[in-house]
This record gives sequence, C-alpha cells and structure tokens, in this order.
Amino acid sequence: MTDSPVALVTGGGSGIGAAVARRLLDAGQRVAVTGRSEQRLRGFAKELEEPEGLLTIPGNAAEYDDVRAAVGTVLTEFGRLDTVVANAGFATGDSVADGDPAGWTDMVLTNVLGPALLIRASIDALKETRGRIVLVGSVAGFVPTPGNLYGATKWAVTGLAENTRRQVTEWGVGVTLIAPGRVETPFWDAHGSLPPGHLLTAGQIADSVVWALGQPAGVDVNTVVVRPVGQPN
Ligand SMILES: NC(=O)c1ccc[n+]([C@@H]2O[C@H](COP(=O)([O-])OP(=O)(O)OC[C@H]3O[C@@H](n4cnc5c(N)ncnc54)[C@H](OP(=O)(O)O)[C@@H]3O)[C@@H](O)[C@H]2O)c1
Repeated sequence: MTDSPVALVTGGGSGIGAAVARRLLDAGQRVAVTGRSEQRLRGFAKELEEPEGLLTIPGNAAEYDDVRAAVGTVLTEFGRLDTVVANAGFATGDSVADGDPAGWTDMVLTNVLGPALLIRASIDALKETRGRIVLVGSVAGFVPTPGNLYGATKWAVTGLAENTRRQVTEWGVGVTLIAPGRVETPFWDAHGSLPPGHLLTAGQIADSVVWALGQPAGVDVNTVVVRPVGQPN
C-alpha cells in the first residue's frame, strides 16, 4: 500500500468522481477526494467503510488556496501524486437569454478555472511521477446547444485539455479529456428531473477513466467521448 499510485479527484464525493475513486481504490491505489460539502465526503467514506487508502479533503476546486492545500495534504499523507482528475463541475441548467446570472460566476469558476488551478498546483508533483491529468469535460464541449453557458464552460475544458497536453507532454505527463454524454448522477438534481432516454451510469464513465489511466508508460489517450446509445447530440 505504501508504494501504490496516488490519485486526487476533485468533486469525488458523488457521481462520476466517486465512481472513479471506487474503481481506483479497488485496484489498490490510494485516493484523495475533494468537495465543498464535508458531510458528503464523510458519507462517501462511510459508505466505503473508511478504507485505509482514502483521504477526504474538504475544499473548493475554484479557490487556489484550497487546491494548493489539497495537493499539499496528499503529498504529506501519501508521499507522491500520480494522477489528478479535474472532475468537480456543475450546470445551472439555464440559458444566456433567460437564465439567472447570479449562478453563473460559480459555475464558470468551478468548471473552467478549477481544472487550470488543479494543473497549476499539481504539475511539479506529476513531473516527478510522469503522471497523468484527466479532465472531465462533456459532449456539451463538442456540440453547440442553444443558449448553453454550461456547454461553453465545457468547450473551454476541451481547449484546456489540448493546450495543457501540448505543454506537459515533454515532461512525460499524459492528458486525457473524458467527455461524457448523459450520465445518471446528482448532476441532474438542479434540473429537477433526469433527461429522457437511456443514461450511462457513473461506473461506466469511471471504466473509461480507469482504462485511459491504465495505459502503459509512453501511451497517452487524449480524448474519449462516451455517449449512451440513443443520445443523438
Ligand atoms: N452527469 C452528466 O450527465 C454529465 C455529463 C457530462 C459531464 N458531466 C460532468 O461530470 C462532472 C461530475 O459530475 P457528476 O455528473 O458526477 O455530478 P455530481 O454527482 O453532482 O458531482 C459533482 C461533484 O463536484 C463537486 N463540486 C461541485 N462544485 C465544486 C467546487 N466548486 N469545488 C469542489 N467540488 C465541487 C460536488 O460536491 P460539493 O457540492 O459537495 O462540492 C459533487 O460531488 C462534472 O464536471 C460535470 O459537468 C456530467
């Protein structure tokens, strides 16, 4: 356990992030998860029966002090960092023409600034391990949807992934953008109901993340788009 790889997953107390954390723990890795709600993180740890390799770190992915502190805690507790997963994110579910701008600042900062802060805070540690960066984008970061500011934040994540890759690949660090279609998670709570049609499970997206992370040294999977069958856009 003391030499096993270490991952830091933002927004890892629920949904896709929690599923990734579970898969990595099952594979014998050590995992730190962050999130704003300490209660949610505690609940997740309890559900997993407080595994030895799990660290829960309350904090806001859009605040650099919190992100830097989370990376510092991981290095202090686990001694290394092999993978960061910039997963924290949410949608206000409204549109630029008729939405409530009061909710937009947090969304843009979490979804766009958050991944950049995580990369900035972790890159020195990742250089040492020749580690990997995973950004959780969205199909909404490839396909325009009317009035969708959330979608625009995910277009930014698509761009950040490739811009980051072009810089860090010379240091041996891999970058994977995982772009999910519709997944059944608490993400949809803000929308009042699940979208129609067949949805992916968080575990199915986590399988793609773990597959990308499990590539041999020297192989860098860059973009993975995963939709449920039946999702047209
Ligand atoms: N579900 C889908 O259909 C779908 C599709 C495409 C992409 N995605 C993306 O997948 C990622 C994960 O979402 P999910 O579907 O798993 O939904 P989720 O269950 O709501 O997970 C989002 C997690 O992020 C955390 N979070 C939100 N804002 C944060 C912040 N500022 N700082 C730290 N943590 C924060 C939340 O915890 P706290 O509230 O406690 O902070 C929550 O645990 C998001 O980036 C989302 O945009 C989801």
